[in-house]
Amino acid sequence: MTEDVAEAVVRQWREAAPSAVLLDGFHALKHALRFGAEVRLTVASDRKAVLALARELADDLSDVLAESVVEIPAHALRELVPRAHTTAVAALAVRRGARANADRLVRLPRPAPVVVLDNPRNLGNVGAVVRLAAGFGATGVVTTGDMDPWHPNVVRAGAGLHYATAVERRSLDALPPGPLYVLDPEGEDIRSVKIPDDALVAFGSERHGISPELRARATRLVALPMRPQVSSYNLATSVAMALFHWGGPPRPA
Ligand SMILES: C[S@@+](CC[C@H](N)C(=O)[O-])C[C@H]1O[C@@H](n2cnc3c(N)ncnc32)[C@H](O)[C@@H]1O
Repeated sequence: MTEDVAEAVVRQWREAAPSAVLLDGFHALKHALRFGAEVRLTVASDRKAVLALARELADDLSDVLAESVVEIPAHALRELVPRAHTTAVAALAVRRGARANADRLVRLPRPAPVVVLDNPRNLGNVGAVVRLAAGFGATGVVTTGDMDPWHPNVVRAGAGLHYATAVERRSLDALPPGPLYVLDPEGEDIRSVKIPDDALVAFGSERHGISPELRARATRLVALPMRPQVSSYNLATSVAMALFHWGGPPRPA
């Protein structure tokens, strides 16, 4: 690669970055590609190392990466992505369209629940929940409140899996249809409750728990088992337990 080409790619990156989704590191790029992300630009400080990683961990993507990864100097990568992942590869992708997400969120019958996070505050928690939802095959993750669930730190924590489920922000008045199962320590024990596939499974914020508005709308309030004197679990671990209780993807044949 000549210096001119590297410089042109860096320029292109700077122009595209403000409106694009940053995929930082091999893991995030791999997941995003596998789930259909439109990746516009991929840069690495050691192209050969990235292709070797692909052969080792994701041979299904070797060809597409061989065609798309552009090598730029290490200092240029550090300028574009200041805390770049140790795999030293990063990409810019198009955010999954609101239309595609909306179609998936409102369609009934629904094969798997939608996770609702009511006014979450912690970006890492939201990313962890996106990753869980993707792994369990949940239909989507809807957040309420002012946080953008596509914030770069959420995408980082979600390991590129925003493309594997429908991630949207909505108001409480515009939640997708379906019975609303709200997780709250004061609810009935989840072990005697079946969570249906078409449910919205909702969780409160880290600091304040579920809002009065969400509680008022609940079809059922459901509690995760907990010893006396422990007041609550972390938000993302609560989502993990509830999705595990729901069931998850079919067992491999
Ligand atoms: C960190 S907790 C919120 C704690 C908050 N200080 C409170 O007063 O509820 C975040 C959310 O996780 C879920 N959660 C945590 N522990 C739970 C439990 N034992 N049963 C049901 N949901 C739980 C609830 O949806 C809760 O609103």
